[in-house]
Amino acid sequence: MINVHTPAELDAMRQAGRLMADLLNACCDFIQPGITTAEVDAFCRATLRTLGDGTAQSGSLGYMGYPASLCVSVNEEVIHGIPGDRILQRGDLVSLDVCGFYHGFVGDNTRTIVVGGPEHLDADRRRLLRVTRQSLEEAVRAIRPGIHLGDICHLIERIVTQGGCTVVREYTGHGVGRKLHEDPPIPNYGKPGRGPILHEGMTLAIEPMVNLGKSAIRVLPDGWTVVTRDGLPAAHFEYSVAVLSDRAEILTPWFEKDPWSDDWMKE
Ligand code: CO
Repeated sequence: MINVHTPAELDAMRQAGRLMADLLNACCDFIQPGITTAEVDAFCRATLRTLGDGTAQSGSLGYMGYPASLCVSVNEEVIHGIPGDRILQRGDLVSLDVCGFYHGFVGDNTRTIVVGGPEHLDADRRRLLRVTRQSLEEAVRAIRPGIHLGDICHLIERIVTQGGCTVVREYTGHGVGRKLHEDPPIPNYGKPGRGPILHEGMTLAIEPMVNLGKSAIRVLPDGWTVVTRDGLPAAHFEYSVAVLSDRAEILTPWFEKDPWSDDWMKE
């Protein structure tokens, strides 16, 4: 069953989303060459306590035994990287996935950034980031009541494929609300005209997970970290969005503070 939210519930989702976007952006600003991913986790935990009225909780810490307050996935790591001793180097691609609860509702969002700044990208990884970001932005722009979910899934897949990259098929976006993962699953591939019809008040986490090389992935022995089989880099961008009467609203507006937001389309 896909939950539909009242205007009051959407307001609460906005607050949770805004808080988690602020936390994600703070963690991205904290990243610099030489720090470990565990230090990012410590910063995330400490910052979470300072936001809003101080009652926000991480959505990942303790989720099915996951041990950290965010996921930090570096280069060939696609998603669910567990923070640890890995030292971030200038030019690394780092995906930060931050989710959590505030006043009973979840915000879930992800950015991939370049350690030291986008000037450290080569052409292929620049294309990877542009294509992944574009697939998310265009998917959000296409959302409105009455379309099929498959229209969105297909659009993401088409943009990624046309950009010469591949979508990960084993993991999906998802409905988001009072719980982190709700119906429907939102694959980053699909067929137009298939799947559930979107209605006003639905809230969805759209999250293309995109590989520069082949789409095959495997999970490391830690049971969490998903890596590309070919060792080539991956990217991941995510917004939580609400379906309004005529469009989607981004509930986790991290783009407002992302310096690349003004430029990614021109690249
Ligand atoms: Co998600």
